[in-house]
Amino acid sequence: MKVDVRTICCIGAGYVGGPSMAVMADKCPHIQFNVVDMNPERIESWNSNKLEELPIYEPGLSQIIERCRGKNLHFSCDVKGNISKADMIFISVNTPTKKRGLGAGQASDLKWIEACSRQIADHAKGHTIVVEKSTLPVKTALTIKSILEAYIIKGKNNKTNVKSFSILSNPEFLAEGTAINDLINPDRILIGGDDQESINSLMDIYINWISADKILTTDIWSSELSKLIANAFLAQRISSINSISALCENTEANINDVAKAVGMDSRIGEHFLNSGPGFGGSCFKKDISNLIYICNHYGLYEVASYWEQVISINEWQQKRIISTIVEKLYGTISEKKITILGFSFKSNTNDTRESPAINICKNLLEEGCYLSIYDPKVDSNQILKDLKKENINYEKQIDNSKQIETHNSVLESVVNTDAIVILTDWEEFYDLNLREIYELMRPPCWIFDTRNVINVEAAKSYGFNIWKLGNGKFK
Ligand SMILES: NC(=O)c1ccc[n+]([C@@H]2O[C@H](COP(=O)([O-])OP(=O)(O)OC[C@H]3O[C@@H](n4cnc5c(N)ncnc54)[C@H](O)[C@@H]3O)[C@@H](O)[C@H]2O)c1
Repeated sequence: MKVDVRTICCIGAGYVGGPSMAVMADKCPHIQFNVVDMNPERIESWNSNKLEELPIYEPGLSQIIERCRGKNLHFSCDVKGNISKADMIFISVNTPTKKRGLGAGQASDLKWIEACSRQIADHAKGHTIVVEKSTLPVKTALTIKSILEAYIIKGKNNKTNVKSFSILSNPEFLAEGTAINDLINPDRILIGGDDQESINSLMDIYINWISADKILTTDIWSSELSKLIANAFLAQRISSINSISALCENTEANINDVAKAVGMDSRIGEHFLNSGPGFGGSCFKKDISNLIYICNHYGLYEVASYWEQVISINEWQQKRIISTIVEKLYGTISEKKITILGFSFKSNTNDTRESPAINICKNLLEEGCYLSIYDPKVDSNQILKDLKKENINYEKQIDNSKQIETHNSVLESVVNTDAIVILTDWEEFYDLNLREIYELMRPPCWIFDTRNVINVEAAKSYGFNIWKLGNGKFK
């Protein structure tokens, strides 16, 4: 059924729900957008008058919030009320990997999707288009549909049923750190479904700022699967280049030159060929794990083990960075001080979910060193929460709270440190005051650059020892 959409509800005010609805609201002033979440603190931060307190840092986001909030963009905990007012509902809730039970460690935990579907079934009125924006295993639309239909049947028995639903898949391809630009200028918009009129209703929204030739429509299963596969391919490129970074170190080649030469081949392309400490973020590992689970479910064991390697290389890359640091610092880092520059999983985001920094820092702490951490956007409470002692054998004699310090600037963080480890490619790290840093450190002043941000010649001239990931000349 074609619906003239006037009111939209988005369930989930996270990294996807918040920015994607903000951009839609900015581009569609004739539509009201209500973003709801069951987490009151998150909603309170979205409603904060201090824009620096928004729960998510993304370049360009606060300006849009300032323009639209209170006009056609609203953040609230009233999930039921906003579902009942909505012509269209986006589901943007989290879909993490299951921690226990069947499929633990691989399958998606769909408990939040199920809870949302039940809330929608209970409170929606009239005809409602339900749009899956979360990344979901192929065939999840069937689960949502069966929950919605079960409620309708029950409603019919009670003679109160006035509801109907159509379900679309519209996965989100934004990348954190460039979310606003990605939402305004997407490579494509993907809409999967079998009800053309509902598809048209969703297209009518995107057409306000995106040209029709960028809107791809497919059946619902292809759409659900495409999102998982896009993430798997992106992660695969990172693991591919990272595996070659190790080979470069052993052969005196330079990973940047290799990546450039390879990427200039138009069949390969230049993007996503930066080596580093491995992929992070909430999606890549989760989505590949889910892909592996689905392949195993269908008996495609060779396909599953092919994708398993992408995760293994990612973990191995972090392990070899940790052992390089220990080895270079005379085989022990116990009681030494190490500065970590960058804690988020990539630059321009405050998101630390699955950040390589967490794993690397935890392993360094287990070796008994002190960590001095600086990240321009990650809150220090978040850092301490991510590194909390649970299940980790940090040195017994060192109190965990004293073993980790967080700082507000690079210079503060390097005082009396033995080594600097650069883990995130924040812009300010490309332009460090190396002369001053060298004076503040304890010799022999090591820099471990996993992000290719340091000018090695300059660093050497000040007296630093430098290890540069993927560079055979600085190994
Ligand atoms: N983060 C990304 O870069 C990204 C990009 C593309 C797709 N995705 C996918 O989008 C989905 C959301 O990701 P995210 O990073 O925004 O997650 P998130 O954890 O930041 O946000 C999800 C929000 O949903 C809320 N929520 C869960 N169940 C709810 C319910 N029943 N009622 C109300 N609120 C509820 C949670 O409180 C949370 O605030 C995931 O499936 C993810 O894989 C994420």
